[in-house]
Amino acid sequence: AAKRREDYLPPDFTVDHIDLKIVLAADATSVSAVLQVTRIGSHERPLCLDGEQLTLKSVEVDGIAWTDYQLSETALTINGVPDSFVLSTVVEIAPAHNTSLEGLYLSDGAFCTQCEAEGFRKITYFLDRPDVLSMYDVTITAPQDEYPQLLSNGNKLASGHNDDGTHWVKWQDPHRKPCYLFALVAGDFDLLTDEFTTQSGRVVALELYVDKGKLNRGQHALDSLKRAMRWDEEVFGLEYDLDVYMIVAVDFFNMGAMENKGLNVFNSKFVLADSETATDDDYFNIESVIAHEYFHNWTGNRVTCRDWFQLSLKEGLTVFRDQIFSETFNSPLATRIKQVKVIREHQFAEDAGPMSHPIRPDEVIEMNNFYTVTVYDKGAEVIRMLWTLLTPEGFKRGMRFYFDRHDGQAVTCDDFVNAMQDANDIDLSLFKRWYGQSGTPRISIAQHGDKLTIGQHTPATADQASKQALLIPLQLEMVPSNGQGESVQLTVALKSETQEVLLPVSSGNRVLSVNSGFSAPVIVEQQASLAELGSILSFAKSDFDRWEASQALFKQAMLANMEGDASVINETAQLMAQFITAEQRNLALLSEVLIPPSVESLVAGLEQVNVDALLNSHKAVYKRVAIECAPMLEKLLAALVLRDEYAYTPEQIVQRKALNTLLKLYSQCQDTSDMLTTLFTNADNMTDTLTALQAAQLGNQSTFESLMQQFEERWQDDPLVLDKWFALHATTERPDILARLQLLMEHKQYTLKNPNRIRAILGSFAFYNTAGLHLSDGSGYRFFTDHLLAIDPVNPQVAARIVTPLLSWRKFDSDRQDKIKFHLTRILDNPQISSDLFEKVSKSLAQ
Ligand code: ARG
Ligand code: ZN
Repeated sequence: AAKRREDYLPPDFTVDHIDLKIVLAADATSVSAVLQVTRIGSHERPLCLDGEQLTLKSVEVDGIAWTDYQLSETALTINGVPDSFVLSTVVEIAPAHNTSLEGLYLSDGAFCTQCEAEGFRKITYFLDRPDVLSMYDVTITAPQDEYPQLLSNGNKLASGHNDDGTHWVKWQDPHRKPCYLFALVAGDFDLLTDEFTTQSGRVVALELYVDKGKLNRGQHALDSLKRAMRWDEEVFGLEYDLDVYMIVAVDFFNMGAMENKGLNVFNSKFVLADSETATDDDYFNIESVIAHEYFHNWTGNRVTCRDWFQLSLKEGLTVFRDQIFSETFNSPLATRIKQVKVIREHQFAEDAGPMSHPIRPDEVIEMNNFYTVTVYDKGAEVIRMLWTLLTPEGFKRGMRFYFDRHDGQAVTCDDFVNAMQDANDIDLSLFKRWYGQSGTPRISIAQHGDKLTIGQHTPATADQASKQALLIPLQLEMVPSNGQGESVQLTVALKSETQEVLLPVSSGNRVLSVNSGFSAPVIVEQQASLAELGSILSFAKSDFDRWEASQALFKQAMLANMEGDASVINETAQLMAQFITAEQRNLALLSEVLIPPSVESLVAGLEQVNVDALLNSHKAVYKRVAIECAPMLEKLLAALVLRDEYAYTPEQIVQRKALNTLLKLYSQCQDTSDMLTTLFTNADNMTDTLTALQAAQLGNQSTFESLMQQFEERWQDDPLVLDKWFALHATTERPDILARLQLLMEHKQYTLKNPNRIRAILGSFAFYNTAGLHLSDGSGYRFFTDHLLAIDPVNPQVAARIVTPLLSWRKFDSDRQDKIKFHLTRILDNPQISSDLFEKVSKSLAQ
């Protein structure tokens, strides 16, 4: 059943303190909980606790065995309780059988937990909602040999041994927290340690727990953590508040990582790295996820969400914080482009599809379905607009005020904006509409001399029929069309459906670059001419805008080519060739500009898609540009292939990126087999290895096959590395792709119990193999659906995540529409369907 935001009611009771005693065993873990419960307000309602898949052993109220209760599949309701009392329950759970990876489960023999959003109810009966904040004492008992390390939140208070070969550790968390931040880990890990001294002089022990033998892959994560801790002190004045910060890397994890107080649990993919096994992108992602989870300690843990509809309060804000952190320690251009690609390729598609929702959703069936690109990434863009509107100084002032006012509380998105507003003495009521309105605004521009008329409108979405005007900070750059003279930048705060703007300088001989730097998550409708795009590409002050122009050129060429218009493709190829000649020293920009928009991002931007024509056109344009640029590509590649010994430095990262972009492009028009084989054989790092494979994947099947075979021989025992190989195979365009996928899923390293494996094969296929998923006979849909049906009972969260590409079936031709609908109906007809899949598939079919 759906829950609605407007139905929020404060809790009937609160739990001031919880004492947990957990005796771990794979098949029968015992959980005893002693709760200090207080009634809130004057009502006579019973205490209704959440609980799922628990075997109840006993209930006591104030030390007396209690029988006046009702038990259901999802709740324990205790009648006749006083206003303040101690509730003791004992339950039994079976971690070994928990394949959903939510609650307490086993990851490769280690116990770990994932409680956000509503997993704590799979551990004990509790008020599983984020506005109940409690103090925690936790005692863990487990066999000493198998589980030498027993971890939970806060500080270690005491420990000891029992006669039966078990040992125990007692933890106490000095900070009040909601139960979704509870964590427990028990296992036998290698431990990497370090120390950090905060600006006020607190010495914090840093502890990184990884699988045995993986210690030498942990240093980058630890270094990233220290950078993040320092940065948050310097930029926001926020300091860590416990004596120990623990991070545990586990192989079985549904998401990226989790910010449990003092004890983060991470998908090992976002911890482990060395040059041999991790790419530059992996290094980047590790740094950004480590920082993200660390930043949650203030934005999420110290100030948390009142209810789950407010998720963007912590996620949008924390993503924004990790974004500006990453922009400081990495190339700002490459970093911003990554962010914008996520919005264009995934968020715009979500906004246009059946799951469309505002960054603060109004209605939710399964909360796990709302950890979305909208809540996270559009949420971060909304925060970025505040940063722009208030200036960095005003924004930081607002942050300080927010913590002064709300530290230790569970609050709403409105509370956050109000704090920003009150600290800056400004009215943000119009801005708040971003939180409640879904959909992607369209911006139109009409120019009459030096006057602009700017319009905004947001088309109806699946969840909302009518839309209002928003407060949009729109940045513009007036680029000199022939490169003579200075660019002029301006920011316009749009407030109504149409607005007139007088340009600050004459518009003669200038071209407008609209939404410069992607200042707002909108679509600009105005179609610039090829000549205008050429000017922006060559002369804009903002490198980001130059990249934008390149993408618009590629896109126009691809769409025009589909209509059989060859002039655009020729002109685009020439502009690209001129660009590469003029900018041959600017590797950072070259390596971005010469990557065409992906087929998937084009699909996301179109209302109706002719898949076959689009795929062909994409290839034709890419190849045509390659041919036009070939002489320059040869020259640049010759200079790039010779390089120093591997180092993760900004200079080398750019070189490797350029090598990747240029080799892929060059492979479109030349046989590069020898180059790629040499690169693969000599590579001293994973980035270059993957460059060789990716270029071969696009250009040369037999080289691809032989290099892939060598890769598999080398890495077959390292699943994290092998995921790259799985994903490459799964995204290859080939007529027998389904047979290939079938083979991959028979590989000894494949298991449908591990989300990383599923995402590497089926996720990559569904999201990034448009040709394979949409095979015209419908066999791609059938294959994919069969596997979704097998995954759903094992791990519904993962099944619901990868079903996404099927949800926008309306975009495709009517034959494909019928076929996708047929298979979605097959999912919906499954009587065992999870609430996760049900919510998405039923919405999709109803749209
Ligand atoms: N709060 C985590 C993060 O973004 C994500 C955990 C979400 N887990 C889930 N099962 N939905 O850092
Ligand atoms: Zn987060």
